[in-house]
Amino acid sequence: MSEDHDHVIDTGKGTFSIDDLGPLMPGMAEIMPLVGARIWKCYYAGQARNRPLAAFQLKEAVNLMEKGAFLRPKYAENMDKFINEELAVVRKAIDSEDWDTFEAAFQAMVEAANAYHDVYDKPYLRWKIPEMPPPDLDMTPRG
Ligand code: HEM
Repeated sequence: MSEDHDHVIDTGKGTFSIDDLGPLMPGMAEIMPLVGARIWKCYYAGQARNRPLAAFQLKEAVNLMEKGAFLRPKYAENMDKFINEELAVVRKAIDSEDWDTFEAAFQAMVEAANAYHDVYDKPYLRWKIPEMPPPDLDMTPRG
């Protein structure tokens, strides 16, 4: 980068170079817990037969997964596969309000997610659906 294009970012509390942004971008360790929170909400929205909320939460989870794969390309191929296979079955069940299929597809999706954790040498990361609905969002369908 030439001297006159030295982009300095001023946070108001200090400054850093644009080159410092890369390592500051979130990785999977930061993004995955957010995915977990969205997937938790998706599940209980489905339990409550709340199609728009379940669809919204799943979409937000996908956005986070895509962001993770963009920032950490080594996960991109398997992330795409997961989104287009196991997760797509859940999405379809939500869209068609087929709640019996939703239940089975959701369990299969969680199994697949944990199998990917295994692939990345983290077999000790076994995500599970929390036993309680998320306390911060009303799951009741509207109108
Ligand atoms: C339903 C989908 C998924 C859920 C709910 C989920 C949930 C989580 C959670 C909560 C963590 C953090 C655990 C902790 O440190 O406390 C995690 C870590 C991780 N997940 Fe997932 N995950 C999902 C799918 C995937 C997929 C499809 C991949 C890869 C293709 C993946 C790759 C990873 C990796 C690499 C880590 C470790 C990050 C680190 O270095 O700390 N996950 N996952």
